Amino acid sequence: MKKRVFSGIKPSGNLHIGHYLGAIKQWVQMQDNYDNIFCIVDLHAITVPQDPKVLKAWTREITGLYLAAGIDPKQSIVFVQSHICAHAELAWILNCFIPMGWMQRMTQFKEKSQKLKEQVSTGLFDYPALMAADILLYDTDVVPVGEDQKQHVELARDVAQRFNSIYGETFKLPEPVIPKVGARIMGLDDPTRKMDKSETAPGHAINLLDPPDVIRSKLMRATTDSLKEIRFDGNRPGVYNLLVIYELFSGKSRQEIEAHFDGKGYAALKKELGDVVVEGLRPLQERYRKLTADPSHIDSILADGADRARPMAEKTLALVKERVGLG
Ligand code: AMP
Ligand code: TRP
Repeated sequence: MKKRVFSGIKPSGNLHIGHYLGAIKQWVQMQDNYDNIFCIVDLHAITVPQDPKVLKAWTREITGLYLAAGIDPKQSIVFVQSHICAHAELAWILNCFIPMGWMQRMTQFKEKSQKLKEQVSTGLFDYPALMAADILLYDTDVVPVGEDQKQHVELARDVAQRFNSIYGETFKLPEPVIPKVGARIMGLDDPTRKMDKSETAPGHAINLLDPPDVIRSKLMRATTDSLKEIRFDGNRPGVYNLLVIYELFSGKSRQEIEAHFDGKGYAALKKELGDVVVEGLRPLQERYRKLTADPSHIDSILADGADRARPMAEKTLALVKERVGLG
């Protein structure tokens, strides 16, 4: 029996290289050794305002990108969260077992609510309960995510443990899997902040579908520092971030990279980085164009994915309802 992987991304904007290096690349690498479920979490996307047509378009685009990056829909289940009612229903039940204090400690909510002030929705506060439902419905063992999601996966584990201690063994306890390098790719314009799809500044992120000239010009404008040496030094966040991206796309070791750029300047680093990123994304972009040439192809994959995931989700939900005494 293979272990189960579950992960997901919100269809709320362009996917960028942070999503690829922090999450999707791991999913593809793990695919053969696990039993996988990859979700497009549209119920999470509506925790902040979304245009209905755009939301649907992002959902299809992200599905196309999962597949283009190497997720095989025959081997792995790919589906849309809102297609399976059990997610919202289990989220409600779990809500009743999550102390307010746990939710109030979530750093992502604290950061996002500072920006949104009074406009912040109750759904955004409650976001981790829905994420816990996603994970726990499928007896998930491991959840490969970027660094920012670790705390949410830990909350899922905590609520599973709490529920099990009250009602007896019901949920499997999930573990987060965070990549050693690339778990937090930073913004090109401001390397002290995470690369984030809700940021709109044009030089902030390299999107997976950016054309080569756009990728190159964004990298040439990336914020660095006034020093010269090209070294992996965490105290110099701009250059460090560019080097990490180089490392992950080139597959070279840090030693090799530092030796290669010895005596060269930032302009050379940025130019060569442009080459490796453009070449690294080229096959994904080509596959994306082929896969999405027929829009009904994506929809049929999503319908098939939901049909395969639904019975598993319903089974867990029925057990939970039975345990709690619902119905
Ligand atoms: P989201 O955009 O919040 O739906 O992110 C989806 C997945 O991508 C999660 O596993 C995140 O942790 C990961 N992710 C998002 N942004 C980054 C980033 N800048 N660096 C690394 N991983 C990221
Ligand atoms: N909250 C995650 C993010 O923003 C997306 C997500 C929702 C997720 N449900 C999940 C990730 C379940 C892993 C497992 O990145």
